[in-house]
Amino acid sequence: MQRTDDGQKIRLSDYRPPAFLVRHVEMRIALHDGHAAVETTIHARRAEGADPAEPLVLDGDHLSLVALALDGTAIDPRRFDAAPDRLTIRDLPGSDAFALRIETRLEPETNTELMGLYRSNGIWCTQCEAEGFRRITYFPDRPDVLATYRVRLEADHEAAPVLLSNGNPSESGDLDGGRHFAVWDDPHPKPSYLFALVAGRLDVLRDGFRTASGRAVDLAVYTEPGLADRATYAMDALKRSMAWDERRFGREYDLDVFNVVAISDFNMGAMENKGLNVFNHKYVLLAPDTATDADYAGVETVIAHEYFHNWTGNRITCRDWFQLCLKEGLTVYRDQEFSADERARTVKRIASVHGLKAQQFPEDQGPLQHPVRPTQYREINNFYTATVYEKGAELVRMLATILGEAGFRAGMDLYFARHDGDAATIEDFLRCFADATGADLAQFALWYDQAGTPELEVQESFGDGRLTVSLRQSLAKGAAGTGTEPMHIPVRFGLVGADGADIAAEPVAGAAEIEGDVIHLVTAEAEVVFDGLAERPRLSMLRDFSAPVTLRHEQSREDKLALARLDPNGFGRWRALSDLLGEALRAAAVAADEAPLDPRLVEALVECAAEERLEPALRAQMIAIPGESEIARLVGANVDPEAVHRAREAAIRSVARAGAERFRAVRDGLSRSGEPFSPDASSAGRRALGNALLMFLSAAAAEPAEAFAAFRDADNMTDRMAAATILAHRFPGSSEAEEALDRFHDAFEADPLVLDKWFTLRATVPDPATLDVVRELSRHPKFTLANPNRARALIGGFATGNQRVFHRADGEGYRWTADRLGELDRLNPQTAARLATAFRSWRSYEAGRREQARAALSTLAARPDLSRDLRDILDRTLS
Ligand code: PHE
Ligand code: ZN
Repeated sequence: MQRTDDGQKIRLSDYRPPAFLVRHVEMRIALHDGHAAVETTIHARRAEGADPAEPLVLDGDHLSLVALALDGTAIDPRRFDAAPDRLTIRDLPGSDAFALRIETRLEPETNTELMGLYRSNGIWCTQCEAEGFRRITYFPDRPDVLATYRVRLEADHEAAPVLLSNGNPSESGDLDGGRHFAVWDDPHPKPSYLFALVAGRLDVLRDGFRTASGRAVDLAVYTEPGLADRATYAMDALKRSMAWDERRFGREYDLDVFNVVAISDFNMGAMENKGLNVFNHKYVLLAPDTATDADYAGVETVIAHEYFHNWTGNRITCRDWFQLCLKEGLTVYRDQEFSADERARTVKRIASVHGLKAQQFPEDQGPLQHPVRPTQYREINNFYTATVYEKGAELVRMLATILGEAGFRAGMDLYFARHDGDAATIEDFLRCFADATGADLAQFALWYDQAGTPELEVQESFGDGRLTVSLRQSLAKGAAGTGTEPMHIPVRFGLVGADGADIAAEPVAGAAEIEGDVIHLVTAEAEVVFDGLAERPRLSMLRDFSAPVTLRHEQSREDKLALARLDPNGFGRWRALSDLLGEALRAAAVAADEAPLDPRLVEALVECAAEERLEPALRAQMIAIPGESEIARLVGANVDPEAVHRAREAAIRSVARAGAERFRAVRDGLSRSGEPFSPDASSAGRRALGNALLMFLSAAAAEPAEAFAAFRDADNMTDRMAAATILAHRFPGSSEAEEALDRFHDAFEADPLVLDKWFTLRATVPDPATLDVVRELSRHPKFTLANPNRARALIGGFATGNQRVFHRADGEGYRWTADRLGELDRLNPQTAARLATAFRSWRSYEAGRREQARAALSTLAARPDLSRDLRDILDRTLS
């Protein structure tokens, strides 16, 4: 049963400290087939200064109360009201501590929302962030109420030999009737959203880690039976994460055990519950034959992310959910830095920026816009967004750029020292950096409150050895309606000489402050002048994407082409190429022509592909042709997805034809046949380049033979998937494509994570007939809306990965998607709401499609029984 919407908004300005504090929580949870009995004892007292007459109000969500006792005696029914969503108790002692014992009874088997206690393939597990604990027991379910926990789990020994909760294991033993129990103690005070339990028949991979100060930690990764051998890479990533956090941030682990559990049915990627991280199995299970290099990188990132939360999230948590970016933005920054250190920094940075532009920019520029720290919400689940996570990480990165490495580290050290054990705010966080460095961060703080992507306009002029650079920032008011004040934008730059080296030029004192290679733009407009230049340099702006802005640099195509070849900053080369490509594709899509690309740009791309001294992963990124949704974003208004598709295809053909010969040679040179598969970054980079080239070669040949051979001979999932995608997407309906899809299906039908790939592969074929295919796939015996990964594979694959067919002119793509969302909403509102964001850019399409999308969304919104989650997204999307 889902919650329907009451339309109410929660506001940051209404924040009040809790009236009651909980010191300690004891739980006894007895798991049975069909139900769970939960006894919770809350050791609490009224907060100092709180009104002694105020009743105790505990949160609930579809709960039914079995029994209630205060300090060992049943409470007079006239003293409390127990509603499904709230338990109110009056006349509690003024300031004495009390123990409140609450009994509830749950049905994990019927929990399809996957929040609170549920069963996934028979395994009992929980998900409590953000407000799931209130589906287990009545509790002050807010992140600023922190308590220690002692949890006793009981279950049938057969059904659940493994019993896990947060903290350290304490007692365990047998009970009558084939049952057993285990007690877990978590000595670190935590908010209820970090509570977790897992119980079931699980396999385990064990290892250990010794912290810098000598604590021995038992590590375990639990999987469904028979899959523990697929957890070795996750375990390795975990140990590397633990060592990295010690090295880079001086943070050690703080319990005797660290457990990770891989679960099939999970709404998100993973969850950082204290000492017991629960993962979507997609981010744990890997094997060369079933997982791509992207999957390996994803596992490494998510394992690191959840582990890093132990300090940024758990030891220091958020005061309220408006502060979500305090833990998420910071932790994404930390996982990005980890990947950059473990893999290749420039490649990682390009991937992050690419992701930011693909996910966060459209969010920030459309109806779902919100500041990194929102000030109001109807449903907090809808704020686990690219803006909170990825833009939140960019803000931390800017802080590091502005303060420098040492200043940033000093601020972080102070944050850990000052706020350990606290539920903190963004103000607390920023104050640490200000106090540690003396910097004034008042203007910087605007980044957290002002939504939207600022534009940074740059103009340059040169004469008499002088380069004058004018900068101008502006921020348009968007859907969030927040402020538009000038912000502190750190602009990393370089002046590139004709020989491809950076020119060290002294800036002439001007309006903007320059520190090393960073211009600090703090006003709406500023000018910087460099003098004494022997030649006109090429200006490489916003290196490493030093701020999340849209750069409008009036720069000649010649300069951009030169930077694409010469910029000593790898990111700068990538950006020059992606700007040139983006501009060419935008223009072609607007004009609805299929003009070939500028031959000089084509030549630059081909040269890059063949440039031996560049690592292959970087070359693969440089020659990537922007995707259709990216081109649509650049077009911005009245988008015709057919024109976008044709423009992109024409660009691919130009590059493919001009480059075929060189591409062939490069691809042949990359092959290392006979070598065993290794998922390391440089092997993955070679595969990425080889497969990018295979796509161009197949496009040049206009026939599927080579891709089919690659599919047939592939000895790993990366190459198999790449070849299958080329076949299915570029040669739909060919016998080769059909055969590859069938073989793929038959070989991996029993492997849910690979079958998800097959669903997505088919749903993303850019051919009008795909609509019939997705209709048919939704009746496939292995399709189910109950499993979020499967629902995302088909519905999400189609709606976000198939621009041409989702945006069909007749509106059928919109209607099919909206109908599925309506069905999904009855089972799993969170996942339905998340998938509904596929509609967020509907207003930027041409009038006919706009009308079709509006109609499909309005029909869905007219359903009377929508969840609060989906209703909130639809209302904002349509407003
Ligand atoms: N806090 C989790 C993470 O980032 C995400 C999450 C949110 C998971 C809500 C489940 C529910 O890492
Ligand atoms: Zn997180």
